[in-house]
Amino acid sequence: MKINSVKGMNDVLPTAEGDSVAFNGRLWERAEAVFRDVMRRYAFDEVRTPIVEEAQLFSRAVGEATDIVGKEMYTFEDRSGKKLLALRPEGTAGAVRAYIEHGLPMRDPVQRWWYFGSMFRHERQQKHRYRQFYQVGVELFGVAQPEADAEVLSLCNAILVDLGLEGIELRLNSLGDEQCRPAYLELLSAFLRERREQLCPECRDRLERNPLRVLDCKNEGCQAVVADAPASHEHLCAPCSEHFARVRASVDRLGIKYRLDKNLVRGLDYYTRTSFEFLASALGSAQQTAVCGGGRYDGLVKQLGGADTPAIGFGMGVERICALLAQQGVPAHAPALFLAIGDEAAREEVLALATEARSKGLAAEADFRGGKIARQLGRADKRGARFAVVIGGNELASRRAKLKDMRGGEETEVALDELVAEVARRVGG
Ligand code: HAM
Repeated sequence: MKINSVKGMNDVLPTAEGDSVAFNGRLWERAEAVFRDVMRRYAFDEVRTPIVEEAQLFSRAVGEATDIVGKEMYTFEDRSGKKLLALRPEGTAGAVRAYIEHGLPMRDPVQRWWYFGSMFRHERQQKHRYRQFYQVGVELFGVAQPEADAEVLSLCNAILVDLGLEGIELRLNSLGDEQCRPAYLELLSAFLRERREQLCPECRDRLERNPLRVLDCKNEGCQAVVADAPASHEHLCAPCSEHFARVRASVDRLGIKYRLDKNLVRGLDYYTRTSFEFLASALGSAQQTAVCGGGRYDGLVKQLGGADTPAIGFGMGVERICALLAQQGVPAHAPALFLAIGDEAAREEVLALATEARSKGLAAEADFRGGKIARQLGRADKRGARFAVVIGGNELASRRAKLKDMRGGEETEVALDELVAEVARRVGG
């Protein structure tokens, strides 16, 4: 019997196309190269934490009453039967656990971390919602100042800009802190209770357990109710209010456009003050889809047993990023030069030229099966190669060859000794 992959869990393959084009590994490579480069420029260090953690880490950090913990977490008993473990549904809790466990709040509280890895949520089957999905994420510990918020937003924005993605909107809100949130929650609950009958059954339940979540219910009736609900950012204490004003001023100064969204509350309980999402409308569903979400979580390190430490971060959905890349026709990672073998005697020369190109930093591929030139050039095309060259008997004798630009089709004659330099020059330019 044939065994298939588990529902909601996908293979990333270089051959993915059609509906599964978001899982084309060559797009992933392009995206990952940008993630890595932006993280380097913003001076963040890569960390890797385990995929499996104790389940209680997530119930304490993300919140018992959230969908993520209450409905979607993959939990299982350890073989010893003594511990309840979970596949991580998100990356922040594990990062905070590691930060505390290794004594970092005492040694060097400022840590600039990023990660790339898979997360697991047993979500309802839906487009762009998977049960195993990847996030690239950032966690910046130890800096309370609003410029850190702006820096993290700027980093996130730089990834989207460098990937060439357009039409993504930043939404910003402030959720206050333990000083001002309780009074705001009172106000919100009172407002919602007066309109209880207009809320969907789930929100009537949320009203008691987690009234903030009513604000982002997708139900039309609930949306009509919350349109007039009190806004958290209008009920902040003085320090939170000043913090938010400074974040907004810094973001303006950086030229990053955003929309204030009073109903942006996020689906995880640890947030304080700044919270944000980057939304794309191009992902094919009626609703805008979040490609990235994050915010401050100044209380979480202490809550999990560490010293009082401010922190901020975000997680970005890699499948959604790659779906947008595919949709916008951003080219996948591809060879700069494809070498075809026009004559048996040319094999060594082709291998030498390919190696030279690689040593100069160019991606190069050759088809050592040889055979029909048209078939080899067809492969160059399929691989998305930028340039192709055929090396045969004539080329070996004259030490010159025709370099074909695979985009426009025009050919330029170059000396074999100049071939790699010519490709490097034209790929760069
Ligand atoms: P989140 O909003 O739950 O935040 O997830 C962040 C991003 O992961 C979403 O905007 C979305 O792009 C992607 N994502 C979430 N669930 C799925 C899914 N089922 N399928 C595909 N993509 C998905 C967090 O996880 C926080 N840990 C972010 C953070 C880091 N906050 C502070 N630091």
